[in-house]
Amino acid sequence: MNQNLPPIIIGCDHAAFNLKKTLINYLTKNQIVIKDVGTFNTDSIDYPDIAAKVASGVSAKKYQKGILMCGTGIGMSIAANRFPGVMAALCNDLFSAEMSRRHNDSNILVIGGRVVGDILAIAILNKWLTTPFEGGRHKKRIEMFDAIT
Ligand code: RB5
Repeated sequence: MNQNLPPIIIGCDHAAFNLKKTLINYLTKNQIVIKDVGTFNTDSIDYPDIAAKVASGVSAKKYQKGILMCGTGIGMSIAANRFPGVMAALCNDLFSAEMSRRHNDSNILVIGGRVVGDILAIAILNKWLTTPFEGGRHKKRIEMFDAIT
């Protein structure tokens, strides 16, 4: 998978530190530039701090896409979606990864490091990165989010 993708901002908490290493290894092997905002070891930290670093970069359009990981992926996705313009999708399976791109135009992929093994996580990431947004009726629907916030 080398599609000349733009740089990706990536972060995790202690529960997904090892998964982050795995995904960074996969991305860099595929010539994708990454901005790693931590955490950088398995010491316990507060995941909202990392969610804010990644989500603010995407919200400000400094990065088109981001990746977040925590134990379940739930806390990271809830926190990231507080930021305007962020469409963080928790995808612990391949179908969700595909549909979050095709129908929701998700711009942050969230994975639970205590839910998904390395091989599946790589497949989820690959599916998410290579699936385009369908637009059309789905564009109209995601534009409705701005009207209700
Ligand atoms: C950390 O123990 C855990 O709560 C966190 O990684 C995440 O799963 C939160 O949603």
